[in-house]
This record gives sequence, structure tokens and C-alpha cells, in this order.
Amino acid sequence: MDPKPTQLAAWKRIQGLTEEAAQEHLRHLLRDPDRARWTRVEAAGLQLDFSHQKVNPAILEQLTALADEAGVFERRASLFAGEPINTTEGRPALHPALRGQGQAHPPWGQHIQAEVDVELERCLAFASTVRARELLGWSDKPIDTVINLGIGGSDLGPRMVSEAMACSPAVRPLPQHPTVHYVSNPDGWALAHVLRQCAADRTLLIVQSKSFTTQETLTLFASVRRWFLDSGCPEECIGRHVAAVTANPSKAEAHGIARDKTFHFWEWVGGRYSVWSAIGLPAMISAGPEAFREFLAGGAAMDQHFQTAPPAQNIPLLLGLLGVWNRNFLRTPTHHIAAYAYGLQRFTAFIQQMDMESNGKRVHLDGSPIGVLTGPIVWGGLGIDGQHAYFQLLHQGTHPSSIDFIGVQSLGSPLPLGGDHDHVVAINFQAQQDALALGRTHAETLALLREQGMAEDDAVRLAPHRVFDGDVPSLAITMKQLTPQALGALVAAYEHKVFVQSVVWNINAYDQWGVELGKTMAKALEP
Ligand code: F6P
Repeated sequence: MDPKPTQLAAWKRIQGLTEEAAQEHLRHLLRDPDRARWTRVEAAGLQLDFSHQKVNPAILEQLTALADEAGVFERRASLFAGEPINTTEGRPALHPALRGQGQAHPPWGQHIQAEVDVELERCLAFASTVRARELLGWSDKPIDTVINLGIGGSDLGPRMVSEAMACSPAVRPLPQHPTVHYVSNPDGWALAHVLRQCAADRTLLIVQSKSFTTQETLTLFASVRRWFLDSGCPEECIGRHVAAVTANPSKAEAHGIARDKTFHFWEWVGGRYSVWSAIGLPAMISAGPEAFREFLAGGAAMDQHFQTAPPAQNIPLLLGLLGVWNRNFLRTPTHHIAAYAYGLQRFTAFIQQMDMESNGKRVHLDGSPIGVLTGPIVWGGLGIDGQHAYFQLLHQGTHPSSIDFIGVQSLGSPLPLGGDHDHVVAINFQAQQDALALGRTHAETLALLREQGMAEDDAVRLAPHRVFDGDVPSLAITMKQLTPQALGALVAAYEHKVFVQSVVWNINAYDQWGVELGKTMAKALEP
């Protein structure tokens, strides 16, 4: 029986420090001039500022000791060595190998790397063919539109990367840019809205499914197949318009999809970790092979950083341990991700699957019932839109939440007025962190209302409604520009954050048995 996390000596020491630390308001902590020295870390093109977290050096030291005692560093070596750390499925979790191009001696071995690189080049070559308008449909017109069918990890990752790269000043769109649509939901309206924008004889369908058994995706596939035929595509020509991405090529073949248009990845890639693989094909088509290679390079840079940086400078380790501190010791039930870049509008949804499908577990690796709170509820979206929608609860609600602010120093928005837009985003990005941390006391509020000339009895009556307790823990991850590299580093940082937390909680981050029962019951209802 593995030791329960709560039985670890470091866990008990942190418990002993928690009450006092919880009492120390961020207003006070942020007065310390020395704080910036140890709460800012830069790596792989990202800057992490965790000065607005309710931690001090002593707690950070104990959190690092907790990671050590829980075996984070040993398990990290196992992850990168391709050991079967996904113990309930007997598989490795080798998503780092997908971005290991060019490593002389990858810890997972040359053989795996060679396989990965061959498939990557196949995908990139196909993407280039589509982008060069060399792929011709049944009427010999060039394909210029892509419909991607997939759900969960077969949708969220490539969709998020496509959208982010479409908002990147570092990624130049082609003069005749292919349009890439994503459909995940089986509600016919989702597909109908897309089909009415597409000309069948110029459209490529990509069916993405690791298992190639997902009912929603296969239902959508059947309907798009019907659409091709109804649009005049001869049965024998459909193959020119359909590609597949899967870990089960034989199943794709059984659905009539040609091998030369079937791109595969491996069982040791979890769906929510698969954006780096052939699953990234629609993003390769929309953003281009060069941008995708840079995305991979950003992930690889973060992998190197995670494996080599000392704990106090290790971004994924810090993200993971601060998450444990907030979740298990300050007891914040939810974790909010606020993105301050339009290109990251789908980033939170992507992390929701990565975090909640990985750490939404309540059994330890050895099968014993969980003894700690595990993965938080992850929510959020575009920060500025959230300020006008649900930030009220973050400021004055009764659900404490920890918050990640993700910002881009230079958005480089293409409008001639770019300066004004970037400035509005930047001041909100900083103001919200400070407002949530510092708050506004009753005395400060009363003084403000009096200063504004409010009648005394109104000021006294309204002040309690306008006090801000503050003390909401947040951290900021910023990048200079939303480049493919920075995005890759950001995604890999969150992957390894989730890994760190899973080891501290002693749970398996890489299976997802919880999705099974619903599917089984839906299948039983099919007749
Ligand atoms: O049901 C959950 C899940 O299996 C995810 O883990 C996965 O990303 C998604 O469904 C899609 O699965 P597939 O890629 O096999 O269609």
C-alpha cells in the first residue's frame, strides 16, 4: 500500500504552517520588497510571476520537499523513459516523444523517435500538399476547405492551436488560405451550419478518432459521407476527399479510408495529450508546417526545462505545487484560467479536459480509496469578457478560487489602432490581479464613498456591499508574443503541472475510466 499523501512528513509539516500562512493577507505579503526576487521565473519563452500566491519561502521549501517525498522526480524520469506509468492500461505516457525531434539520445529511445518522426513528416507533407492546393477533388478542382470531425482530445487541441496561430503576428496566412472547420457535437445543427459554408467538390474531410469507435464522430462521418454523395461525388471518388487520424488504422480502413490518407499515432498517447501528434493535422494545414514545427520546439524546450531546472526555478513544478497548496491546504475548490489574448479563447476548454480528465480521480494508484482532494474544477475563458460576466463571484462571492492569468505582452493585433487595443488588455490584465489580491477594506471603502460626496448614512449603509476582501491567490504566465513556440511551451507546462499533481496525489493521470459508463449506457440505448 503506497503511503497516503497525508501521511508524508512534508505534508504534515505544511499542515502545521497552513493556519498562519492563510491568515497572512496578500496585502501584507505584497509589501515585501524582496518578494519579486523569488517569485519570478523565466524559461522557454514564458515568464511566471507567482508573487500573488499566498506562499512564503518556508512553504515553498516544504512543497518542494513534498514533491521529493512523493517521488515526483523519480516518476518524472519514468515518464520520459517511456515506462508504463499508466498502470491501469499498462502503457507509457510518452507525449514528450511527439516533440522530441532532433534529440541525439532521447530517453525513450531512438526507435520510438524514428517512428514518430516518420509519421510527423507524412503529416506535414500532406498538410503542405493541401496548402499548395495540389490535392484535387472529384471534379479536379483544388481542395481549399477542410472539415475536421473529432471530439475531446481529437478536437480541442488542434482547434485551440489553429485559433491561436490565426491570432499570431508570427504566423503569416497564405494568400489563398485553406479554411478549416471543426465539428465535434453530433447535434445535426453543428454540422449543418458548417456544410452550408462548404462546396463538397473542394472539401477534405478529416475524421479524427484515436479509438475510431466514438459514436458521435462516426455519426458525423456517416452524414458527411452522405453529403458528398448527394453533392454529386461518385462513390469511387469519395476516397479523394476523406482522411483519417487514429491509433487504429485498420478500423479506418474498414470505413473505406485509404491508407495513404490515414495518419496514425500510438496507444501511448493519451487523447488529451495528442495535439502534438497526427491529431494536429488540421492545425498543420491551417497554421502551416513551419509554425507546427515551432510549436513542437516550444514543447520540447519546456520538456528540457522541466527535466533540468532546479525546483525553485522549475515552472511546471511550481505550477503543480502551487496547485496542491491552493487545493489541499487553502482548500480552494475551483481553479480559474483567465486568458488575456483572443487567440487563447479556447485554451481554458483545452486545459479543462487535460486537467479534469487526468486528475478527476478518487482512487490511488494501488486501488485504495483516495485520502485527499484531487483535481479541482477548472473553469474560465477570455479574462476581459469574464470581468463583465462572472468576475463578480471571484471578487465578492463565497467560492474561493485560485486563478491563472495568461497574458501576451505584445498582442500585435493587425488593426492600425493596435496600440489602443493592446493597452486596454494590458491594464485590465494587471488591474484584476491586484484588485483580487489587495481588495479594498471597509475603512477604505467608507472613506471613498465619503470622498465621492455620498451622504453619511448612505455611505455607512452601502459600504459593506462595496468592500472587497481581496486575498484571492493568482499567478501570471506571460509571453512576449503569442508565437507557436510560446504556445508549445505553455501547453507542455500545463501537461507537466498536471503530472506533478497526479504524483503528489498518487493517482493515475493517464487513464479515463470515468468516461466509460455513460458510453456503455448510451450504447445499450441505441436500439
Ligand atoms: O470519452 C473521452 C474520450 O475518450 C477522450 O479521452 C478522448 O479525447 C475523446 O473521448 C475522443 O476519443 P477518440 O479520439 O477515441 O474518438
